[in-house]
Order: sequence, then C-alpha cells, then structure tokens
Amino acid sequence: MPVDPPPDEAAAFRRGDAPAPMLDLIGLMACHAVNAARTLGVFDALAAGPRTTGELAAVTGADPAGLEQLLGVLRTTGYVRRDDGRHANTPATTAWLCSDSPTDYGRIRGLWQTIIEERWTGLAGAVRSGIPGGGFYDWLAGRPELSSTFHQMQLGLAEWLAEEVVSLVRVPEGGKSLLDLGGGHGLYAGEFCRAVPGLTGTIVDAAVTERTDGPLTWREGDLLTADLPGDQDVTLLCNVLHGFGAADAAALVARAAGTLRPGGLLVVMESPPEPPGGAADLAFAAGFSLNLWHTQGGALYPAETITGWLEAAGCSPGPWRGLARSPSHALVTATAP
Ligand SMILES: C[S@@+](CC[C@H](N)C(=O)[O-])C[C@H]1O[C@@H](n2cnc3c(N)ncnc32)[C@H](O)[C@@H]1O
Repeated sequence: MPVDPPPDEAAAFRRGDAPAPMLDLIGLMACHAVNAARTLGVFDALAAGPRTTGELAAVTGADPAGLEQLLGVLRTTGYVRRDDGRHANTPATTAWLCSDSPTDYGRIRGLWQTIIEERWTGLAGAVRSGIPGGGFYDWLAGRPELSSTFHQMQLGLAEWLAEEVVSLVRVPEGGKSLLDLGGGHGLYAGEFCRAVPGLTGTIVDAAVTERTDGPLTWREGDLLTADLPGDQDVTLLCNVLHGFGAADAAALVARAAGTLRPGGLLVVMESPPEPPGGAADLAFAAGFSLNLWHTQGGALYPAETITGWLEAAGCSPGPWRGLARSPSHALVTATAP
C-alpha cells in the first residue's frame, strides 16, 4: 500500500503546497522494495508470525543491516508494521502479497513492473512522433517466465469472469460452432461448450500450440491475416481489440463479422477507458491504455467507438453491459444480418 498521508498532509499535496510528485517517487521506491521483499521471501516468512529483523534475516538469508533498511521502506509505505521490535505483515500484504494467498497479486505486480521498466522506454519520443514503441508480443515471447505469468493472468481473469460472460450471451438455438479470436488459453470457448451441448470451439491465436482437446481446437495464426473458418454461430473477441490500432481493430471486427453465419453472434468484451469503479480503477485504466498504445499500438476504446465498428461491419449491436464481477469489463453482443 503506498504512503497514506493523513488528511491535512494530503490536503497540502493537493493544494500544491507540498510536492505531489514526491508521492509517486515514494511509490516507485516502494515498488522496488516490494520486488526485493518478494524475491527474498520476506512476506512469506512473516506470514508464519512476527519476527525481529535478526530472525527474519536468518530465515531469508539476508544481511540484517540491508534488511533493516528494506523494512524501513516497507513499513513507511504500509506493507509491514513493527510492534515491540517485531515485524508483521499488514492485512493488505497478507491478502495481496503472500504467495499462498488465493488473491496473491505479487506475480501480476511484478509482471507490470517489468513491462513498465523495460517497455516504457522512449515514451516521450513516441508521444512526440506519434509512433509507439510496439513489439510487445515479440518481447514477451522471448521471456518465457514472464510470458507464462502473462498468460496465467489472462487465464485467472477468465476463470473469474467466464461464468458471467456465458450467462450474458444467448447462443442461437442449435448452435454448433464457436470461434474464439485471440482466445489463448481457450477458457471462454471451453465454458461456452460446457454450457451448450453439441457446441465445438476453435481458438485462433498467434501464441498457441496447435492441438485438439475434447470440443476445442487451437489454431495458430495472425488474426489480421490468417484464414478464418466461416459459418460460425458465435465468434468471440475478448480483450483483443485493445491490442490493435484503431484501423486494424475496425478491420478485425469486420473480419470477425465475416466468420458468422446469418443471425450469428459477435461477442466483444473490452475494458472501458473510464470504468465506473473508483479513482484507482480510473487511474489504472489510463495507465493500461497508455501501455497498450506504447507497447502494442493499441488503446482502450470507448464503447461508442466499438459499436461504430460493429455497425460498419453490418452487425446489429445490443446494449453494452458491465460485468458485475469486474467494473473494468463490459460486453456487447451484435447480430450478423
Ligand atoms: C489480452 S489476451 C486475451 C486472451 C483471451 N481472449 C482472454 O480474454 O483472456 C490477447 C490475446 O490475443 C493474442 N494476440 C494478440 N495479437 C494477436 C495477433 N495479431 N494475432 C493472433 N493473436 C494475437 C495474444 O496471444 C493473446 O492470447
């Protein structure tokens, strides 16, 4: 948890009487301190109970003097507390940074830190020229451990959202075929096939190994150029459009619409640039969108923009529906003529 100043101190930062950017600088320090603590196993060691610096140094194999400095940053930024000379995890750390917590956020946080450190270089030049750095998926492919974390993150989100996504889509009567474009792990396609007996799913994605497993078949291919199967009852574009520039995203919507049989459904799920959650969700969405722009040439697109692409592709979109399980996701279903 970043430094949390009391109201009068926060007001001074807000008024401009104190240097607000210092808070972000402290956040950057905290990010690196948390990374080091995760690497050393500090939070997992404290999950077993409060420890003195010496005890913690012995368990983690760290130098006591260095560890004392690290704990100073972790304490003042709200990740640990110290009572009677013993350090303990704060509730936020117990929930979000211990590796055996069901809500462990540590790997996702670490992935984002690496992306920002390694892929946000040249940001000013990119913004000046309008030419993003790009190359995200090539970079990711060269980093197997990060790539695995990235795809695990997509899978974890899909496990959380898939049931609701399936409940929001009325698969046409007698539906037999579903196409999941950029479907990666295949969980959405799999959940649809589980819910609709007789439905088979094809996943097309650049980063998959071709295989068949039960009703699902994975095909490797670039979404903008690969031959796509036609006559589909349902085609999914879940969290995919934001990875493309506007012209390519619109073209991809048109390609997806072209895979449908008459009356088939095109389902688009995306993250709105201005989610209805709180200030943290709003700020994260802005950072996510900038990251998409600079690293992939994409962006988070407003619902009206995507609706326009669906209509231009000849489909009739219904209303956008926010997901109850995530204020940062919304879904639209459009019917092919
Ligand atoms: C953000 S992930 C979304 C995965 C999945 N649809 C979901 O919602 O969990 C984007 C996926 O699109 C794939 N992808 C990105 N660009 C692609 C391209 N040009 N051609 C094929 N697949 C691509 C990636 O490999 C990745 O699996």
